[in-house]
Amino acid sequence: MAKPPKTVFVCQECGSQSPKWLGRCGDCGAWNSFVEERGQEAAVAAADSPHRYALAGAAGARLYSEIELEQHARITTGIDEFDRVLGGGIVPGSLVLLGGEPGIGKSTLLLQAAANVARTAGAVLYSSGEESEHQIKSRGERLAVGTAPLYLLAETCLERILEEIARIKPALVIVDSVQTVFSLKFQSAPGSIGQVREAATQLLFTAKGHNIPIFLVGHITKDGSLAGPKALEHVVDTVLYFEGERHHSHRVVRAVKNRFGAASELGVFEMTSAGLRPVPNPSKMFLAERPVNAPGSAVLCSVEGSRPILVEVQALVSGSTYGNARRMASGIDQARLSLLLAVLEKRAGLNLIGDDVFVNVAGGMTVDEPASDLAVLAAIASSVRNRAIPATAAMFGEVGLAGEVRGVTQAALRVREAAQMGFRRCILPAANIDPGTRLPPARQGRSGDPLPTSSDPNASGGGNGLGSAEDEWELIGVRTVGEALDALLT
Ligand code: TYD
Ligand code: MG
Repeated sequence: MAKPPKTVFVCQECGSQSPKWLGRCGDCGAWNSFVEERGQEAAVAAADSPHRYALAGAAGARLYSEIELEQHARITTGIDEFDRVLGGGIVPGSLVLLGGEPGIGKSTLLLQAAANVARTAGAVLYSSGEESEHQIKSRGERLAVGTAPLYLLAETCLERILEEIARIKPALVIVDSVQTVFSLKFQSAPGSIGQVREAATQLLFTAKGHNIPIFLVGHITKDGSLAGPKALEHVVDTVLYFEGERHHSHRVVRAVKNRFGAASELGVFEMTSAGLRPVPNPSKMFLAERPVNAPGSAVLCSVEGSRPILVEVQALVSGSTYGNARRMASGIDQARLSLLLAVLEKRAGLNLIGDDVFVNVAGGMTVDEPASDLAVLAAIASSVRNRAIPATAAMFGEVGLAGEVRGVTQAALRVREAAQMGFRRCILPAANIDPGTRLPPARQGRSGDPLPTSSDPNASGGGNGLGSAEDEWELIGVRTVGEALDALLT
């Protein structure tokens, strides 16, 4: 039998291994991602140990019907918005990865949560490989950590961290960051995929074995992905991701994966001089600086997870002085913008050839659901025609290649949020109004009649909690982009 190779080359993106260096990973297609790693024998030896892959209590296969349902008593982080993204608090024994760019607030949020948990649920271990105890403490002073039983450990050696966990038996562990942790079993550098995966796996066993929730902080690589994302994402229970611009004070934490709650759930925060403060009404914040009666501004009713959020989509169309027109999207997908521009030219008769088009979701928000299409098109058309969309109108809807406006999910939720935020008119896909097809769920159980539309003689009085001033409230169902633009821009 051939001896196992002493060195292997490991793709830092997906963890795929090769005996020799490759320019491009055959598995995930990443370029220049192979790094030489050692310590294969140690890994093999560790894999031979019988307990390595055994989770505590997993004695053998058990009958589904004999397994009692465990009611996880969740631990609250003391920060509403953070609890919300986690699906209602921290699940004991869960492993959570919190990713984000440097300086966005990962350490701040976790230190705040750590202090709160220490106050209510018992000892917390905050292990940092990035800052000294003194640095953490001086930050903690700003965050008013106080006298809670919070243990700080400036350590990068995985085995030492595991020892401290066994000694302190904390209610919560935070490892900041997983890329600084290294295991003595491996000789490769901290941050390499082998080390990161080993750290995550060992911490997973600790979390499950001792029922201690563990948070891992993960760094974002240059191209915006978590370093070693594929390797970590399936190991952890929950992946949270910090979004936002460093120049803005607000931050968004999004659940990308959650075994214990809805994915794409959002938590919204504001960075203040005393740490991150939850923002209970994000729609209000995102619309705070909206210019009224300015062309190129459209209000979108989007839904993130279970939460409706109104955001402003802005567009600017201006004649290009140079040969090739530019199309820039921030906050929406660039490819989606190209597609929507083609639809606008072909189906709504707008001539955009030779124009620069800039689209931006205000406040640094990112929207990636198709329901945003209509608002993007409306904002662009509004800028082209130099005519403002009424300030009291909000909209949503997916747009197809034929220029048709398609129904979207959770229409009732979106409509209700618009009404609550004081909007008087909502432009939505006709399919979301028609009772026979996709009626907004909240409406379905109550009565068979459709939501009131503008063509409906009894247009007022939705009676669905759609707003206080029901007489002024108007829902306009549209079938095509043309209809939508007529409703908004005339
Ligand atoms: P930090 O949590 O250190 O970021 P990360 O761990 O994601 O790298 O956040 C640091 C930034 O937050 C820094 O620019 C200063 C700012 N900040 C405040 O504005 N207020 C505060 O109370 C704290 C602690 C930090
Ligand atoms: Mg940090």
